Amino acid sequence: MKVFYTKVALNAYLDAQKKNKQIGFVPTMGALHEGHLSLLKKCNEENDISVVSIFVNPTQFDNLADLVKYPKTFQKDTKLLESAQCDVLFAPDIKEIYAENITSTSFDFEGLEHEMEGKFRTGHFDGVGTVVKRLFEIVAPNKAYFGEKDFQQLQIVKKMTEKQQLPVEVKGCEIYRAENGLAMSSRNSRLTEAQRNAAPFIFKTLQKAKMKFGVETPNAIIEWVEKEFEKQSLLTLEYFTIADEKTLKNISSKKEKTQYRAFIAVFAGEIRLIDNIQI
Ligand code: PAF
Repeated sequence: MKVFYTKVALNAYLDAQKKNKQIGFVPTMGALHEGHLSLLKKCNEENDISVVSIFVNPTQFDNLADLVKYPKTFQKDTKLLESAQCDVLFAPDIKEIYAENITSTSFDFEGLEHEMEGKFRTGHFDGVGTVVKRLFEIVAPNKAYFGEKDFQQLQIVKKMTEKQQLPVEVKGCEIYRAENGLAMSSRNSRLTEAQRNAAPFIFKTLQKAKMKFGVETPNAIIEWVEKEFEKQSLLTLEYFTIADEKTLKNISSKKEKTQYRAFIAVFAGEIRLIDNIQI
């Protein structure tokens, strides 16, 4: 695996390789887990060269403590990527991406940014849009892979790519779960043992909500989920909602030929976990 820290070095290498080669890209913030590796696996299957980036993007953190405590495990990540047949690791420092100006561009994601996470994490999606656009411009991949755990992020990146006419195919990949159902997340490594044991309740509740969706109204399901979480001592519900997969707008009744998803955000202590399920 080649490791590059600068755009110049990365571009020199990729330009020399590029002729007729498909480049696949998996952007990450490090602290890699099996979820990331499942994205890389798909990327390897569909491309000639796989590029993974590790860059903890400050502009997408609405909470400084979360940024400071974000797990940093670069040596371990490098080994994992090597063993998972990554071709190129791009690990820029902050100056490579932002020069002296660590701010985000303000995007119009046609309303997607105002739903769910957007209500709780001010500026988060402008930060994501800014860094993903920069990384797409630098890496110039044919395809890029994003996990569906951050489903809203995936839809927003698709929208940004389409609106900015970036020649990248953005692909969503299924959520990778532990055996107990907990969605893989870099933040899981910060959970205490007790919180880790409690957290699978999140996906169990999503599965039950999916069953109920056939027979109950969205509002009745939301009320039920809220009551379920009141009984949990280690988990605090921030939101649970049922939304149209395309617009991400929450719904009060179902329509024909529309695909829906249930979305949830939960605090385990100060660690914020999100998950979703197609229903
Ligand atoms: O999902 C993530 O890890 C980040 O939001 C991303 C896409 C790498 C942008 O910093």
